[in-house]
Amino acid sequence: MFDLKITNANLPDGRTGVDIGVKDGRITAIEKNLGGEAGETIDAGNQLVAPPFVDVHFHMDATLSLGMPRMNESGLLLDGIKIWGELKPLLTQEAVIERALAYCDLAVSQGLLAIRTHVDICDERLLGVEALLEVKRLVAPYIDLQLVAFPQDGYYRYPGAVDLLDRALDMGVDIVGGIPHFERTMADGAASMKALCEIAEKRGLLVDIHCDETDDPNSRHIEALTYETQRLGLNGRVNASHLTSMHSMDNYYVSKLLPMMAEAGIAATANPRINIVIQGRHDTYPKRRGMNRFPEMLTYGITSAFGQDCVMDPWYSLNHADMLEVADMGLHVAQMTSRAAMRQCFEAVTTSPAKIMHLEGYGVDVGCKADMVLLQASDSIEAIRLKATRLAVIKGGKVISRTEPRVAKLNIAGRPSQIDASKVVPQV
Ligand code: FE2
Repeated sequence: MFDLKITNANLPDGRTGVDIGVKDGRITAIEKNLGGEAGETIDAGNQLVAPPFVDVHFHMDATLSLGMPRMNESGLLLDGIKIWGELKPLLTQEAVIERALAYCDLAVSQGLLAIRTHVDICDERLLGVEALLEVKRLVAPYIDLQLVAFPQDGYYRYPGAVDLLDRALDMGVDIVGGIPHFERTMADGAASMKALCEIAEKRGLLVDIHCDETDDPNSRHIEALTYETQRLGLNGRVNASHLTSMHSMDNYYVSKLLPMMAEAGIAATANPRINIVIQGRHDTYPKRRGMNRFPEMLTYGITSAFGQDCVMDPWYSLNHADMLEVADMGLHVAQMTSRAAMRQCFEAVTTSPAKIMHLEGYGVDVGCKADMVLLQASDSIEAIRLKATRLAVIKGGKVISRTEPRVAKLNIAGRPSQIDASKVVPQV
């Protein structure tokens, strides 16, 4: 007897038409024509059942604050930072919690059930830290939320940030963050990598650095981060976020860097929708794309993810928790159009960030947690193409969100018909 059975499911690994049995919050069977009764049965109708989407790079303390206290009319990064600086002293804990919870509801509706968010610690009140720790507690039944202690204004550059970061970790923030390219000098940036990795090693924590988010080809804090990771034995525990300078680096240098990153077991996360609009702003033409070297890193076996970064905040007015839009942008920017590469872009918003977040029991396989998303698409490539509707979102074997299929009702010249975009083209 199963609690839940999903029949006729296609899986991201290529299995088609299988039945998934769930008992006590775990997947206990996957096979064709699975026998046995179930408390609830969902017919997937040969559509994709994927593990939940994962966003490993986000800023939940700022989300949904667009227009507060004023709109970023230019859309430029520096104006965004200025406006965030104006908003910070006006923030209240209640307002941050309210916006974060509203965002989490949106995330659930999009099948996004694991989020790693940075939280700005450059604030003597640590108001954002307190607020997001409370949000983490409130959403724990349905979202895996990890917090990164992020010194937005510089670990050494912002007075007091060294102590504030320690305090944030003492309060329960999970991960050590940093922003070396924003320190006053390259030397300070490298020193911050040393200090922050040593804190992580001492406390047994993971590391997630805003690393080299610049177009400067000589911004090479990734080198210091890689060195410290290797020196302190943090292999598999460090994520280098953004790495936009890598786009502009000399090819010879990159040919040395990537094997060193692979050796140190460093993961990398690009934020394609943000990188593509924020980087290259000082260029005339040709304009650089400003995204890391995602396909090349994959060939070295470097775990590589796509994150969302921002949703309606001072830096960016768009996005809506749709990780398929993020995958779609990454696919285009990195020219990942082979069949295998398109599937890797789906992995970049599911299995790869799950690995970076060290999520236990993640995946659609026997023994995994029964957390899944039924999509209105037959496979992962079609899911990206259509930004597929999340027909059902399942957490611990229970459906926690449903959306009606997207079907257009046409009435052309008095001839009524229906169009379901997932059924328009023959499937291969
Ligand atoms: Fe970020």
